[in-house]
Amino acid sequence: MEPVASIVQRHGGRRDACIKILQEIQTAYGYLPKDALRWVTDHTKITPRQIYGVATFYEWFRFQPVGKHMIRTCHGTACHVNGARQTTREVQEILGVKDRETTPDGMFTLESVACLGCCSLAPVMMVGEQVFGRLAPKDMKKLIQDYRRKHAHDHEPGKKAHGHAHKPGHARPHAHPDGHGAKS
Ligand code: FES
Repeated sequence: MEPVASIVQRHGGRRDACIKILQEIQTAYGYLPKDALRWVTDHTKITPRQIYGVATFYEWFRFQPVGKHMIRTCHGTACHVNGARQTTREVQEILGVKDRETTPDGMFTLESVACLGCCSLAPVMMVGEQVFGRLAPKDMKKLIQDYRRKHAHDHEPGKKAHGHAHKPGHARPHAHPDGHGAKS
């Protein structure tokens, strides 16, 4: 629990540090591991109830580990009107997972996000660090197969693909605690 101890040390153990501490734990691990949360409640004034309240209020937080690569399908307005729902449905069928689920082999976690900031390419999705635009449902299978083949031997943990670089993608409906709103 060394990373958690140093996070807590940095922010102090007061109740108002809860969001910052959770943010840093999630950045470190890619999600909020139970043991880490227990360590926080054992060593600070933050209560399990408070943690649960914050972590369920902001959808950016997650209690389950993510796969090696995040697939973020954009559901902002431009992508929505250009067929994001159909391309996402196709991806879900190919991977056999729903939104915010991880494939059984731990390769991909699917997540729908708001605008990824490249609306002229709508509909857009990000796989890992790569942006794919002007997508059509028929392209999805090959795109995922190619990506899987190319990255089959990667050991990049999901948390890297989940770093702060992508915060804009966590605006509603998957709100980030840095002011992008909360779960509706
Ligand atoms: S709405 Fe999808 S990139 Fe902007």
